[in-house]
Amino acid sequence: MTIAGQEHTAAVKTARLRIWRGTSRDNGRYQEYDVKFEDGDSVLDGLVRLRVDCDPSLAVRFSCFNANVCKECTMLIDGTVEYACIAKLQPRLMQLDPLPNLPIVRDLVTDTLSRKERF
Ligand code: FES
Repeated sequence: MTIAGQEHTAAVKTARLRIWRGTSRDNGRYQEYDVKFEDGDSVLDGLVRLRVDCDPSLAVRFSCFNANVCKECTMLIDGTVEYACIAKLQPRLMQLDPLPNLPIVRDLVTDTLSRKERF
């Protein structure tokens, strides 16, 4: 809430994102980035900011962006399968990995079509 005569002063925090980079589970490494955020920003918000401001080569998949509809942003966040557009950034080290048990396309993007074709 903005109060007349006072500036909006949302606290800016920093998350350290430890992100799997590579084209397979055997060919890659973790890379760490510091991302500034405000309370309520999602992990996907941070990843998009990273791509724009720091590293456009980072591969991440999303479509609906914060609507929880497309399911394209699913990844491992601190070892738990979550939607990056729903999970919130925290002011600490957060580890991001591609989904387990699926081929990696690149970085955080997995071949989810290979899973759908099995059904
Ligand atoms: S971006 Fe669509 S569910 Fe996360």
